[in-house]
Amino acid sequence: MGVGPGDPELLTIAAVRAVEQAEVVAYPVGRVGGTGMALTIAERWLKPDQQRLPLLFPMVAEAGPRIDAWRCAADRLAQLVGEGRRVVLLCEGDVSLFATGSYVQLALRERYPDLPFRLVPGIPAVCAAAAAAPSQGLDLPLAFQQEGLLIRPCPESSAPLEVLLQVAEENHTVLGLIKVGQRWPWVRTVLQRRNLLEQAVFAQRVGWPDQWIARAAEVSEETKPYFSLLLIRQFWPQVLP
Ligand SMILES: C[S@@+](CC[C@H](N)C(=O)[O-])C[C@H]1O[C@@H](n2cnc3c(N)ncnc32)[C@H](O)[C@@H]1O
Repeated sequence: MGVGPGDPELLTIAAVRAVEQAEVVAYPVGRVGGTGMALTIAERWLKPDQQRLPLLFPMVAEAGPRIDAWRCAADRLAQLVGEGRRVVLLCEGDVSLFATGSYVQLALRERYPDLPFRLVPGIPAVCAAAAAAPSQGLDLPLAFQQEGLLIRPCPESSAPLEVLLQVAEENHTVLGLIKVGQRWPWVRTVLQRRNLLEQAVFAQRVGWPDQWIARAAEVSEETKPYFSLLLIRQFWPQVLP
């Protein structure tokens, strides 16, 4: 089920109910002993008698350890459900959007085709950022009428980002670029070259107490945290209020 992003108040009523009714609350961690972001977000809705179950999903490039982790998580969750326990797996933002939960979903379907489960959608960080932007005087609706909206990871280098921006402009597609943090120094240069720094919105740790939203032009050149994204609108409808 989706939680946050950041703000525990952004859980849906369905998500809060699912947490309250769970006997076991599973959550992803990137290393043994790590604090899960999703758990931190959902903490307000947990009770002391609920079992907390960290599931390790190592952040590595190799396929082997990642596949093992998804299968291992599916096995553990299926075992608990088989014992008759009510289990939820927390996931930051939406459960179907660049989410670890999606891999677990597929592993469960593959390994335990008869196991019942349901997905509780959450609010994607890109949507939360667009909703938070007006608090800084920045209005960036994600899509009007025939426009497109593309939510995707930031490309790995300048050239493909240039192409992406060009195609998005030609096709009236707003971009929600995630995983911008480490790439920000060269992304900023590309935006500057294309005169986009004034209209792009940078959003860092949306929903957290230290949320920061700013025009890209106001964001310094150093790398930024993993939880940061960009909203880029290069056109507006001809008819507006
Ligand atoms: C693995 S994706 C998770 C997406 C998530 N499932 C969603 O629905 O938004 C992680 C990326 O999403 C973006 N992100 C997630 N939460 C965020 C937040 N609270 N503030 C800013 N960006 C966030 C960042 O770009 C981060 O690198």
